[in-house]
Amino acid sequence: MVKIGSPRPVRPADISVRGLGKQYPGASAPAMADVDLEVGAGEFVCVVGASGCGKSTLLRILAGFESASVGSVSVGAEPVRGPGPERGVVFQDYGLFPWLTVQENVAYGPKQTRLPKAEVTGRTERALETVGLQRLARSFPQQLSGGMQQRVAIARVLANQPSVLLMDEPFGALDALTRSALQAELKRIHRETGTTVVFVTHSIEEAVFLADRVVVMAGGTSHGNSGHVREVVAIDLPEPRDVTSAPFNELKRRVDALVHQSNATPPAPRAPAGAGPAPA
Ligand SMILES: Nc1ncnc2c1ncn2[C@@H]1O[C@H](COP(=O)(O)OP(=O)(O)OP(=O)(O)O)[C@@H](O)[C@H]1O
Ligand SMILES: [Mg+2]
Repeated sequence: MVKIGSPRPVRPADISVRGLGKQYPGASAPAMADVDLEVGAGEFVCVVGASGCGKSTLLRILAGFESASVGSVSVGAEPVRGPGPERGVVFQDYGLFPWLTVQENVAYGPKQTRLPKAEVTGRTERALETVGLQRLARSFPQQLSGGMQQRVAIARVLANQPSVLLMDEPFGALDALTRSALQAELKRIHRETGTTVVFVTHSIEEAVFLADRVVVMAGGTSHGNSGHVREVVAIDLPEPRDVTSAPFNELKRRVDALVHQSNATPPAPRAPAGAGPAPA
């Protein structure tokens, strides 16, 4: 168990999404409708689906950057009313402050709180250690490769000790080798911190490699309906996962078929996509 600063506060980290819909101002139809999803504490959920089906919209609502038009969203039993340090967000474009060193970037979040200086330093050092970047603490982001910059972005959110990590195609801009290295690192971080993760990706292989469950979204206004959850697929594969194994590839084919299924028919009414059995 890697500790990042003081012991982790015991917080329920479940995510609960009920009847969520989003209508952007001026749009002719809702971008997303009727989304129900439960994510258990410590669960790793990947979200896949064709471009425009509302994956980023869902993530931004969970992050509190966008508001829901209808429905409710709660994290750790608290309704989401805006961004919060308990939800760490990582995007594809690292979003680092170029004028700050790696260390200063990582320390930025904890410094905004009233933590003692030693705690800020401790959290920063441990977060950098977790992503293997202690040696580059004094470098500036532009001196680093894309993979290293994304490690800094991950360390920066870990320093806030989030209970939930929200990641939108975080490895989308990386080369294949760096990408698989970071996938393995993220798995280790998830195992060691017990953080709940919601991870959006276009790569079905990445989703099946990382997730406990894969949420397949479909539709969107360009398909004449609203983005919605098509199906949730449980990935019951042992760890470490072997991407060449038959069960892995079978699940990959299944998710792939769901992603590419025609959008011609409107979504059928469906039961909530919860972790447990649907209520009677
Ligand atoms: N700020 C916005 N204002 C108006 N419409 C938006 C806004 N953001 C997204 N949309 C629309 O909402 C729909 C869903 O967009 P979203 O970015 O969530 O899709 P996505 O699944 O993340 O797509 P991609 O895979 O291309 O990233 C799209 O039709 C998009 O054009
Ligand atoms: Mg997106």
